[in-house]
Amino acid sequence: MACQYFSPCEHGADSFTVMMPKLTFGRGCLNEIGDRAKERKLSRVALYTDPYLKDGPYVRNVLQSLKSAGIEADVFSDIRIEPDDATVVEAAAFLSQGQFDGVVSVGGGSSIDIAKAAMVYTCYPAHVTDYFAPPVGAGRAVPGPLLPHIACPTTSGTGSECTSVSVIRINALNTKFVLGSPHLLPVEALVDPACTDTLPSNAIASTGFDLLCHAIECYTARAYTRWDKVDDPNSRTLLQGANPWSDMSARRALEIVGEYLDRGVNDSSDSEARDNLMWGATLAGMAFGNSGTHLPHAMSYGITHLMRNITTDGYPVASPFVPHGISVVVNAPAIFQYLAEGAPERHLEAAQFLGADAVGATPLESGEIVSKRIVQMMKQTGVPNGLSGVGFGTDDVKALAESSIRQTRAINNAPKVANQSDMESIYSNSISYW
Ligand SMILES: [Fe+2]
Repeated sequence: MACQYFSPCEHGADSFTVMMPKLTFGRGCLNEIGDRAKERKLSRVALYTDPYLKDGPYVRNVLQSLKSAGIEADVFSDIRIEPDDATVVEAAAFLSQGQFDGVVSVGGGSSIDIAKAAMVYTCYPAHVTDYFAPPVGAGRAVPGPLLPHIACPTTSGTGSECTSVSVIRINALNTKFVLGSPHLLPVEALVDPACTDTLPSNAIASTGFDLLCHAIECYTARAYTRWDKVDDPNSRTLLQGANPWSDMSARRALEIVGEYLDRGVNDSSDSEARDNLMWGATLAGMAFGNSGTHLPHAMSYGITHLMRNITTDGYPVASPFVPHGISVVVNAPAIFQYLAEGAPERHLEAAQFLGADAVGATPLESGEIVSKRIVQMMKQTGVPNGLSGVGFGTDDVKALAESSIRQTRAINNAPKVANQSDMESIYSNSISYW
């Protein structure tokens, strides 16, 4: 890190802001939704979910709980995994026509992110890219508050219930991009780990590596003190970099995923492991909602853009499809080898939190140690072996780098800033690990 958090830094920001929803965690807490919405005086809510959950027990329980509390609900479920800007337009039209006074989302990151984005364009109509940052959009600020949103994640990875961002695929540019504003933060999160009991093992693996990368990216991000001191507190950067809050939650999330991912993936009856992974995902969301991710997420977007002829067992999604957590982790071992010299002590600590054997190791060895530990966890949980495992080869590295270099915010949040040539080298080193 460039300087100590609480030491004076020339031109350095001297404060950080923590944003969090009211959070309830525990088996069965999904059934609290009716009382939670009633407490907020909601009378009619829009419920966003996906086609696979729509007729299942979680949405049924939520609808029953809302009904028992005297609250009407209409369901929007036309949300594909990795939702796009066309879905945002449809979801906003649904919201604007229903005379709703609140929003509920039940699902993975796709459902929660679409609920957030739909509210933005319903409350403050604009062209769909206007609120996205350049080069994708016009960079307009979301003007004001949205509807009360209660987010209910059903996977142990997204963390979106705790963040003020929505990640949407922009079709015209064929890439994913972040829509961020403090107004996007849900007012409440109901995190019920029972929702993960029936998830297939490869979904636990994918979401588990998403949470792992959220946490390690926050822990190794540049410090918030790199920003200029602000005169207007409302102009403080939303994704501000590593800070004491994100350090605390990222550290515990890394310890949890290091201890429980293998068990949660390889034994679907291990509810202790799956409960812990759900808590780890929440902690990692609390971290990245206030710190921001960096290079592994930036470089995953090239994969999502250029993937072809690839399917993933257990996901009812047409080809091409690579789950988000897999697209993030396949580059991660090579990325942390590259980044470690920018924050060697942090990388060594992160490796130790993940359970790496680092007795007697020095910070100079931290890139190798953290990389080996992630590869070990990838092998234990049966995820694809690097880029070659998701259909890419050395001929693709230039195009992948050209796509991912557009993720300026995330790239600049890393402890060492990669240019396009650096990215090509990292992708080359990510082709396979074993
Ligand atoms: Fe992620």
